[in-house]
Amino acid sequence: MSRVVVTGRVPDAAIEKLRAEHEVDAWTGSESIGREELLRRVAGADAVVSLLTERIDAELLDAAGPRLKVVANVAVGYDNIDVPACTERRIVATNTPGVLTEATADIAFGLILMATRRLGEGERLIRAGQPWKWGMFFLLGSSLQSKTLGVVGMGGIGQATARRAKAFGMEIVYQSRSEIDPAIAAELGARRVDLDELLAVSDVVSLHCPYGPATHHLIGAEQLAAMKSSAYLVNTARGPIIDEAALAAALSDGVIAGAGLDVFEREPQVHPALLDLENVVLVPHLGSATVETRTAMAMLAADNALAVLSGEQPPAPIN
Ligand code: DGY
Repeated sequence: MSRVVVTGRVPDAAIEKLRAEHEVDAWTGSESIGREELLRRVAGADAVVSLLTERIDAELLDAAGPRLKVVANVAVGYDNIDVPACTERRIVATNTPGVLTEATADIAFGLILMATRRLGEGERLIRAGQPWKWGMFFLLGSSLQSKTLGVVGMGGIGQATARRAKAFGMEIVYQSRSEIDPAIAAELGARRVDLDELLAVSDVVSLHCPYGPATHHLIGAEQLAAMKSSAYLVNTARGPIIDEAALAAALSDGVIAGAGLDVFEREPQVHPALLDLENVVLVPHLGSATVETRTAMAMLAADNALAVLSGEQPPAPIN
């Protein structure tokens, strides 16, 4: 029997699955596990099932010690894990691709609708008890039909967002490291372009690329200035892909029309300048937050950990 440390609360089904075969030490506190407590608990673990709020770095891997075989992240993004440090120590790192694709695309499209149709502004106005009545020019937004969506990072979530956009009558352009399946590109009518062209032609830019050194502040003042002044920017990927201070300035100066953000540069903090702006929708990292999706993510992470502990290939290895 191996020892599995789970760094935060996950659906019971995943804990039961792990417990059927191994000893499980799961953090169940309502607050995130503190760093010291985490370093103490991982000592001697064979597997760590981690949440994206926990930094899995060399210090933690060393605190775990030589028994550690697998770090199973309950997220598709894995910028919280030092993957090279895992590889050096022959530790398998895994993630949860696929199972959160549709839920995250739903939130991306929700943000697109909220930003372009000013739903957050309308809601805030009513809740603030402000007087209002129907008016020809009251809270006018921008239609999506025949507009262009620019998808940055055309993996599963980017493609799922593009499918929703197509159903709303939008044209699709995308920027990606590689060409997507030609049959999918044809079905979506999606054209691959470089980032400069995407920023210049898109009415809505939606970010779906992974975060890492290559995408840190991919969207800064220069890129925002290259967008149409009528365009919107949506981020459901990772906060630091956008230079948040530059975005706040661009939104305030009318460089772009609006934005919708599910992720932030220094979560859970939000740049204070964004909080004062009406033309940005702010939601607290809800991309995968459905009961079904979180259960599927936790089950896949458990499957990943169990596979490695039994000496098998995990369903979703990173390294
Ligand atoms: C992920 O899986 O990377 C998401 O951000 C979780 O919501």
